[in-house]
Amino acid sequence: MQAHADAARADGRRLALVPTMGALHAGHLALVDEARRRGDHLTVSLFVNPTQFGPAEDFAAYPRTEEADMAALEAAGGADVLFAPAPAEVYPFGLPPLTTVRVDRLGDHLCGPFRPGHFEGVATVVAKLFLACRPHVAVFGQKDAQQLAIVRRMTVELGFGIEIAGVPTVREPDGLALSSRNRYLAPAQRAEAVAMRRALDAAEIAVAARERDAGAIVEAMRVEVAKAAGAALQYAEVVEAESLQPVERLAPGRYLAALAVLFGTTRLIDNTQLEVLGD
Ligand code: PAJ
Repeated sequence: MQAHADAARADGRRLALVPTMGALHAGHLALVDEARRRGDHLTVSLFVNPTQFGPAEDFAAYPRTEEADMAALEAAGGADVLFAPAPAEVYPFGLPPLTTVRVDRLGDHLCGPFRPGHFEGVATVVAKLFLACRPHVAVFGQKDAQQLAIVRRMTVELGFGIEIAGVPTVREPDGLALSSRNRYLAPAQRAEAVAMRRALDAAEIAVAARERDAGAIVEAMRVEVAKAAGAALQYAEVVEAESLQPVERLAPGRYLAALAVLFGTTRLIDNTQLEVLGD
């Protein structure tokens, strides 16, 4: 992969990378489109990264659909490289790796407390994918806003010299964010999952109505999730967009309203950006 990337760089190509864990859906393909706009050589990586799954999480069960992924990618215009390394290539001495990347503080809230080690696994594998694929630009989804913020910080702090692009969340017609994990939902759970979008709508509406108390915005989100009998709210939070630290009141600036909800054993996340102008 490195030799190929170096050759493409020597040819003057601008290399774009879309990291994925496969089970591709239209959200991933929106990233692919954006990557094509930002570069003229496209690498899509497909690696279900063991170090970002907790011991009780769905690593073994995570959908592995490589044939369908290749077909979906072909149908969407193809890529120059599909990089699907074996675990032993990514972790040559096995698990756990002794060398990892940990981004402090940005993992203290939102998903961090509920997924110990997750973001360290993500930052580590993304760093390795950057080193293997040598992109000029890498594209990530705002669906995983905490991941995106952590990748941005790591990229600057470690001096990768890679442009990081964020793509808005692609949703089902009813507002549910596309996710590889949606396929775990039973029909009744799928119907109730729209409560997550309603909760984000409630946060946006509250801010538009000049609510500046973060607790009140969170409460508006909770109310919407509580309407879905089969939904168990794991967290709802309003945090400052870059530091990902919670706030009590929203001063002018950018924030993130985010939540994680359990439908049975299926855990879904979603978020929306809130912008407060001077008023
Ligand atoms: P994965 O869950 O496969 O997601 C790959 C990329 O697709 C991420 O950047 C994610 O934010 C984006 N994505 C997922 N659903 C989306 C949606 N509905 N709309 C827009 N973008 C969406 O995220 C990972 O894999 C891994 O953590 C990875 C970065 C590959 C590291 O292992």
